Amino acid sequence: METQTKQRNSFTSSIGFVLAAAGSAVGLGNIWRFPYLAAKDGGGLFLLVYLVLALTFGFALLITEVAIGRKTQESPLTAYSKINKKWGFLGIFSFVVPFIIYPYYCVIGGWVMKYMFCYLAFQGQVAVSDGFFTGFITSQWQPIFYCAIFAILCFIIVYKGVEHGIERYSKILMPILVVIVVFIAIYALFISHTDENGVTRTGLQGAAVYFIPNFEGLTIKKFLLIILDAMGQLFYSLSIAMGIMIAYGSYMKKDENLNKSVNQIEIFDTGVAILAGMMIIPAVFAFSGKEGMSAGPGLMFITLPKVFNSLGKFGDFIGLIFFVMVMFAALTSAVSILEAITSSMIDKFKWSRRRSAFIMAVSTFVVSVIVCLGYNVFYFDLKLPNGSVGQILDILDYASNNILMPIVGLLTCILIGWIAKPKTTIDEITLNGEKFVRKTLYVVMIKFVAPILLFIILLTGIGII
Ligand code: PHE
Repeated sequence: METQTKQRNSFTSSIGFVLAAAGSAVGLGNIWRFPYLAAKDGGGLFLLVYLVLALTFGFALLITEVAIGRKTQESPLTAYSKINKKWGFLGIFSFVVPFIIYPYYCVIGGWVMKYMFCYLAFQGQVAVSDGFFTGFITSQWQPIFYCAIFAILCFIIVYKGVEHGIERYSKILMPILVVIVVFIAIYALFISHTDENGVTRTGLQGAAVYFIPNFEGLTIKKFLLIILDAMGQLFYSLSIAMGIMIAYGSYMKKDENLNKSVNQIEIFDTGVAILAGMMIIPAVFAFSGKEGMSAGPGLMFITLPKVFNSLGKFGDFIGLIFFVMVMFAALTSAVSILEAITSSMIDKFKWSRRRSAFIMAVSTFVVSVIVCLGYNVFYFDLKLPNGSVGQILDILDYASNNILMPIVGLLTCILIGWIAKPKTTIDEITLNGEKFVRKTLYVVMIKFVAPILLFIILLTGIGII
């Protein structure tokens, strides 16, 4: 045990850990999903609900996972059995989740890469043409090619290890990401657009739609739906229940203040989500009014290029830095998923990092190729329990986010709240005598509130509610 602890990779500094974990948390979810949900769910009202849940529910789950990682010094596959011998099966679950997510995350990473190259080659106008996005994802080789480049980048970073790969790149990419988001968010406020009906809308009006709570037509049922949306988003956004925070927690030094670092990760993740809303909602509002916001997943790849295009030459530049920023966000998130499965293999089978990273990268790439082919060779439509229709990518996304992740989260709460008892994680959080201000809140959350909420998310996922 002693030698294993010594040999284990670790982050060199607390800021290194925070930026790497924030790198994982800040991803596509913050950039397109959060703004889209906020616009759909009454602007400021969604923000308020989200913030309250982040400080309570999200905080409890995040700190639990980081503490499990640091306490056991193990990656997800083996960590749970160290907490309780009979709970090793939960480790298998939290290995399977990132193994399912990673392949399709790389496919979307490849799409982002394609757009980034488009803007780099001054081809922003091409991205606007009708059918560009569909044409691209349904073509046979291109998506596989871009996905491969993205996956190779992730592989290189993970292969280099925690300190020289993940920590080093997060320290470079994350600050650049923040600067770009702030810049575009400020720029978006000054956009003004007159449509063909002569109606002029400004970015500032869009910001008002975003921040001012809209209680119009609010019913109890609708309010509950907003809470559900916020909870699902929070869960995904903080990268919880997929083993990642356990893996990263296991690389955190014992003398660092765990509570403080977790607070910083939360502030970072929520801050970027709110800023992403400030960047996207005003811009889309100015161009297509409130209806434009309901574009959902197509928002980033179809609506936004149109917005950039109508900004003239400067729009090409904004488009370029926007996709560079999204690229960074996607890369640091994907790296964290690959790390979760790679480190699991290292700890379980005592493989070398190189061997483990290679085998994981290759096996997940095979799945990525199948996901890409889901838009042509293997095309089919499947109706999901929430009523939407999807292809292979959507099915994997749905199975992991709406079913498997709530199960892992729920079981983690039962394990820590009831079997091993909250003292297990609290002792780790206060290891160096730190004050744990939200301790009572934490216990109530992990024992009662979080499991109930997770159970409701799970029921909705399965389609029972
Ligand atoms: N937290 C990331 C986001 O907000 C999503 C993510 C998913 C990260 C899977 C890692 C793994 O986009």
